[in-house]
Amino acid sequence: MNAIFERKAVRKYTDEKIEEEKIQKLINAFQVSPCAMHQTDVMELSVITSPELLKKIEDNTNNSCYNAPLVFMINTKKDSQFGERDASVAAENIMIEAADLGLGSVYVMGGVFALNEFPELQKELGMDEGYETTVLLPIGYPADKEQVEDRSNRYTVVRK
Ligand SMILES: Cc1cc2nc3c(=O)[nH]c(=O)nc-3n(C[C@H](O)[C@H](O)[C@H](O)COP(=O)(O)O)c2cc1C
Repeated sequence: MNAIFERKAVRKYTDEKIEEEKIQKLINAFQVSPCAMHQTDVMELSVITSPELLKKIEDNTNNSCYNAPLVFMINTKKDSQFGERDASVAAENIMIEAADLGLGSVYVMGGVFALNEFPELQKELGMDEGYETTVLLPIGYPADKEQVEDRSNRYTVVRK
């Protein structure tokens, strides 16, 4: 599981198109995500590669997706207490798979608030009635080979 250690927030992408086969693998990673109480209708996914729609997302969210060539938009039921949790574990699944495929990604929450102000755009992006966007995941080939900070002691860990 080296991909867990290789994954890092990537915010600069090349214009290179992502292969269909890789997009399908990312979708497969989403599909096997845990879901609270096995409620499979809490979450749905829009996969966006249309340049026109990607531009609309960027224009309406203050460029929150860093001009990535692919955006996974994870939407969850508005009234579900599990939405944010399900979406977050799914996001991690996708980000780890992306790292394994040589792709970069980043968990984006900032643009979500902006996007939820544009229900017509969300509808155009494929979101169903009664849902809201919970996580945006820009994905693409990393433009930079950034040095990763030492994350081995990022959090407090207590062992007893
Ligand atoms: C709940 C959550 C919200 C985040 N929102 C954003 C965001 O809106 N924009 C962004 O560029 N990164 C966002 N991030 C990514 C973090 O900034 C990043 O994971 C953190 O700096 C640690 O870096 P690493 O992922 O490379 O270990 C978010 C991460 C989490 C877990």
